[in-house]
This record gives sequence, structure tokens and C-alpha cells, in this order.
Amino acid sequence: MQDPITLPRTKDRVALFTALMPQVRELLHEEHDPVAAMANVTAALRQTFDWHWIGFYRVMGAELVLGPFQGPVACTRIGFGKGVCGTAWKEERTLIVPDVEAFPGHIACSPLSRSEIVVPIRDSDGRIAAVLDIDSIHADDFSTVDGHALELLCELLQPLF
Ligand code: SME
Repeated sequence: MQDPITLPRTKDRVALFTALMPQVRELLHEEHDPVAAMANVTAALRQTFDWHWIGFYRVMGAELVLGPFQGPVACTRIGFGKGVCGTAWKEERTLIVPDVEAFPGHIACSPLSRSEIVVPIRDSDGRIAAVLDIDSIHADDFSTVDGHALELLCELLQPLF
């Protein structure tokens, strides 16, 4: 049965993402520093959505290293193929995890996180340069609507890496 919360949430999200994209384009306009850009993108997402944790991890050698974020303190480094973030990096694709406890190897930075989405970001050469990681306190909070919208948003960051 359709979760009664899911449908209106999804509809709302389309409208919210539609309003957010021009704002992010404006924030990134003529900005060349990836950290400054990621910082404002996390804040813009935070001002738009009630997600628990929103942040970036950058690829640095064989690890993901914590970048700009909004939310509680988080783990600083994640290995290639580890957790949801390291798996999204390894598989080079967006991962939507409806129940973090059911994801083998999930790294629990906050006990409140119930579901998660991770979107990889490519550099100009097509290599994964970073991931956007978002956690929700609600189970099954992310759909392909969020996935597609966040992929479009992350594509705006590609020229900065
Ligand atoms: N849960 C992530 C770790 C990062 S925190 O959620 C901020 C993972 O399994 O990769």
C-alpha cells in the first residue's frame, strides 16, 4: 500500500527542486572554488528540505574525506567501497537506501538516520571527484524523483572539480 506520506512529499519535492535549481545556479555563477560552492549548496538544500544531514565527501586518494555539510558531526573518512558513500563511489551511481539498517556495511554516523541517498559527482574528466550524501530521519524518504533532481544539481558542480 502507498505510504500516505510518500505521495504528497514527492509532489512537494518536485516544486521545491524546481524552485531550488535557479537559486543554486545563481549561487554557483562565477564561483570557481569547490569548497565555497559545496558549502552554499548544502545550506541551500538545508533551507529547502528538512533532511537530517546534508553534506559532501571528496575523493582524496583512496578515501572519501568529509567536506562542507549541514547537520550533526559525521565520520571524517570513508574507504573506497565502504558504507553507502564508498559503494556509490565504487559503483559510480546514485544509491537510494530506504532502510539503512538493511544496507550491508552502512556506516552509522547518527543513530537518527533511517534512510539515505548518495549521488556521485564527476570531474571534467569523468572521474568521481566527490559524493553528495543526504540522510533522513524517515524510513524510505528518497525516491527516484530526488535522485534525478540531485543528479541535475550535482552536474552543476562538475566544472568546479
Ligand atoms: N552513512 C554513510 C556515512 C556518512 S554519514 O551518513 C554522514 C555511509 O554509510 O557511507
